[in-house]
Amino acid sequence: MFGIKKKQKSEKIMADENLKHIAFIMDGNGRWAKQKGMPREFGHKKGAETMKNIVRYCGSINVNCVTVYAFSTENWKRPEAEVNAIMELLGQYIDYLYTVMEKDDIQVHFLGDKGRFTPELRARLEKAEADSAKYSKILNVALNYGGRDEIVHAVNALIKQGKTEITEQDIEANLYTSHCPPPDLIVRTAGEIRTSNFLMWQGAYSELYFTDVLWPDFSEEDVDNAVKEYYKRTRRFGAVV
Ligand code: IPE
Ligand code: IPE
Ligand code: MG
Repeated sequence: MFGIKKKQKSEKIMADENLKHIAFIMDGNGRWAKQKGMPREFGHKKGAETMKNIVRYCGSINVNCVTVYAFSTENWKRPEAEVNAIMELLGQYIDYLYTVMEKDDIQVHFLGDKGRFTPELRARLEKAEADSAKYSKILNVALNYGGRDEIVHAVNALIKQGKTEITEQDIEANLYTSHCPPPDLIVRTAGEIRTSNFLMWQGAYSELYFTDVLWPDFSEEDVDNAVKEYYKRTRRFGAVV
């Protein structure tokens, strides 16, 4: 048909050894709900569905490590009803993980201070980590996570180990992410150009990608676009390349 141009399908790019880890700052659930005249919780619910799809899709393009920022150390400042709704979604997400961890080969880790959760929730988080340890694709869910909190936690662990002088390697070995490489690519949705206390140490040389798309609308094509952009970048790590 002339005059009608079909939207070009984005190109699915497979990740290689240069893209081992993608991290997502899943932002914009509240604005997405507001645009629809719905309560913020409605946005979080849709956002959780998007997260399932995007994690699965990243696995399908051979990204072996995915991190999602689900709840920050600062997000406790939100209204109690919203925090409770997010915690409820988290409980449902743990149940969901059990239905896919074997099929999708997911080894889950919860990054952050688990001491802030109820003993019941904490036990469920730790059980999901233990039960999925035999699988190989790493999924990090950052929960009650803060980059500053993480560094303080690492330094305190080193003090407890009796260290009086420390190296970068010591800090790295005591971060919540000691089991995985640093993120190659950090994607933030919903138009904010900041990292909001996410992976402060690990993100030192990450490529950053910002998009206006609100997280609940974030699609497989949006992943393709971010990956495509990533492969256009030249990573120098301070050297001359
Ligand atoms: C991200 O969406 C989810 C969390 C931070 C828990 P927001 O809830 O921050 O959505 P906006 O930024 O208000 O639109
Ligand atoms: C960052 O989003 C935290 C998560 C996505 C979990 P926020 O919505 O909390 O960030 P700010 O407040 O806009 O910086
Ligand atoms: Mg936000």
